[in-house]
Amino acid sequence: MTAAYRIAVIAGDGIGTEVIPPAQQALDLVAARCGFTLHYDRFDWSCRRYRETGAMMPTDGLDRIAGHDAILLGAVGWPGVPDHVSLWGLLIPIRRRFRQYVNLRPIRVLDGLPGPLREPGEVDFVVVRENVEGEYSEIGGRLNRGFPDEMAVQEAVFTRPGVTRIADYAFDLAATRRGHLTSATKSNGIVHTMPFWDEVVAERAARHPEVTWCSEHIDALAAKLVLHPSSYDVLVGSNLFGDILSDLAAAIAGSIGIAPAANINPEREFPSMFEPVHGSAPDIAGRGVANPLGALWSAAMMLDHLGEPAAARALMTGIERALADGAVRTPDLGGTATTRELTEAVLAAVPAHP
Ligand code: NAI
Ligand code: MG
Repeated sequence: MTAAYRIAVIAGDGIGTEVIPPAQQALDLVAARCGFTLHYDRFDWSCRRYRETGAMMPTDGLDRIAGHDAILLGAVGWPGVPDHVSLWGLLIPIRRRFRQYVNLRPIRVLDGLPGPLREPGEVDFVVVRENVEGEYSEIGGRLNRGFPDEMAVQEAVFTRPGVTRIADYAFDLAATRRGHLTSATKSNGIVHTMPFWDEVVAERAARHPEVTWCSEHIDALAAKLVLHPSSYDVLVGSNLFGDILSDLAAAIAGSIGIAPAANINPEREFPSMFEPVHGSAPDIAGRGVANPLGALWSAAMMLDHLGEPAAARALMTGIERALADGAVRTPDLGGTATTRELTEAVLAAVPAHP
């Protein structure tokens, strides 16, 4: 019997709705060539829905997708709807309820990319971001709004299980790669949570003797990542540090339109979610020129997670060949091609017999 996977598709807003159909098309092509099928259930959860109904998704939304094998997301966010509404009304509930505590962002400078760095093939690292606790917490409050003594307090939450599991994930990942881990800290300035983070990472390091590791302050790390990106293998950071590092890293790789991300529930009790790093890009939405590669690369990560590595590799080969060939580029890559044309170039470059 051929394998069949059920995918929950949330295209979202803006260019999210333009890059998801190409991703499905690419998925279907490699699935057919590798002998399995994908079934898609589409959900219109978005800022558009919020404006029509007052909610980003229905109240039982999470229950409706809890049984799927994976979630494929475009992007959510639109001018007129505050970003914290779209984030806390959809993305963060999915990440937390489905215990997607790992946010994985691979960074590679691919051949043919007109990035700020010209060392193709050398830059190849992964940012592992803690995805459900840390600085992004609801604990805190605001007092005396509108008065001269107005104030705001926000607490960061770091738990032993939370830091342990993200550190273990990062060490395990490093062991499958070049064997080096860098932990982002700021224990000189943040004197409670960051020394705790450092202690737990050091404890877990003792259980992974095959991996060399070091700890670097986030500010110096950001600078070094720009100057010497090829010296990194796996980076692990808290929710805030990992968020910033991974956007910085996406820019290093050439275009935010290419960067992929995965929100992983490693225990597989719940579906994991795959999404390009970029947002809904209102400035270019509706023109059909969005770069689809971030969505396609995210789709390849989804195939890996589903246990279809040959299909994932075939899709990545299509992306790499189309980029290296360089004839078809979207405007963010310095060309004039449309989303459709770049998608067709990738599909044509997928190996016939993966
Ligand atoms: P953005 O990523 O949407 O756009 C930043 C810049 O990069 C824009 O100039 C845009 O045209 C360009 N860009 C992004 N993706 C591109 C692609 N695939 N091809 C070509 N160019 C691309 O970030 P921005 O403008 O800060 O946010 C816009 C909206 O998206 C906001 O509402 C924000 O909250 C939301 N957003 C949602 C995310 C998600 O769903 N995970 C992530 C980031 C932002
Ligand atoms: Mg970000």
